Amino acid sequence: MMNLKQTLEACQARVEHALETVLPDSALLPGRLHAAMRYAVLAPGKRLRPLLVYQGGQVFGVDDERLDPPACAVELIHAYSLVHDDLPAMDDDDLRRGRPTCHRAYDEATAILVGDALQALAFRLLAAAEAPAPAQRLHMVDTLAAACGSRGMVGGQAMDLAAVGRQIDVAELEDMHIHKTGALILASLRLGALCATDPDRAALAALEHYGRCIGLAFQVQDDILDVTGNAEQIGKSSGADARRAKPTYPGLMGLAEARRFAGELRDEAIDSLAPFGRQADTLRELADYIIKRDR
Ligand code: IPE
Ligand code: IPE
Ligand code: MG
Ligand code: MG
Ligand code: MG
Repeated sequence: MMNLKQTLEACQARVEHALETVLPDSALLPGRLHAAMRYAVLAPGKRLRPLLVYQGGQVFGVDDERLDPPACAVELIHAYSLVHDDLPAMDDDDLRRGRPTCHRAYDEATAILVGDALQALAFRLLAAAEAPAPAQRLHMVDTLAAACGSRGMVGGQAMDLAAVGRQIDVAELEDMHIHKTGALILASLRLGALCATDPDRAALAALEHYGRCIGLAFQVQDDILDVTGNAEQIGKSSGADARRAKPTYPGLMGLAEARRFAGELRDEAIDSLAPFGRQADTLRELADYIIKRDR
């Protein structure tokens, strides 16, 4: 049995190899756009969403080969969301994954197009996958589209921008985080499970509850790291949320309370995996990692 660090490293190597292959070569026209797409995606990210796809499938006995297309698809959507999130019209950030942001390394128009093209590529991968069967694949396309659309990640980003400089309460903050970050995390687990032939409904519901808990916990910890981390460690500028008057968990309830809440979500996530045996141990460890990570 591998520990979480080894499992995450194996997942990173696997999905990065697959992403290398599916991203158009920069020798292919338009070369600058393709180079910028590769720059954004192949930068050193944690690849946490692909790991959730693999684990969400593995607990239902799905082989990794079948999980490669959705694992790549969620990472492409995630990378696109980061490129757009960093744009001057949004968070206006200069540093991402320890490197200049896409619009800094290239230019704003290219960064907008990079996001657009990565999103399209993600859906092509799902549509073109050899397995599972077409009806299930259609369900996967719908699941990912719902998670990243106006009722999912993009909706959450709109809520985030609308909340700048405004006093919002915890319920509104939670709703914003569930959409902007939680939706894609939950979808990653779902996509993995949807690769199984007939996932048990109760087990799937348990996995989804886990996904909701870690999705929110992930963004709470992201908010915490913006306060406690330094740029070298987190690979992006720290203190950016306060500078931009973004509502955050530590901002609203203080650091100690935000940490306590993250711990509560971790516990609830782990509890919800009760229907699974040892095959869910990586997911259990992951819930803890999400709130203890320092990058
Ligand atoms: C950052 O996500 C953006 C959020 C949704 C909080 P990650 O922390 O997963 O970023 P990478 O992929 O490791 O760079
Ligand atoms: C981003 O949230 C969520 C996305 C959908 C990209 P943040 O704006 O807090 O993410 P970072 O801190 O820039 O990575
Ligand atoms: Mg943002
Ligand atoms: Mg940001
Ligand atoms: Mg943040």
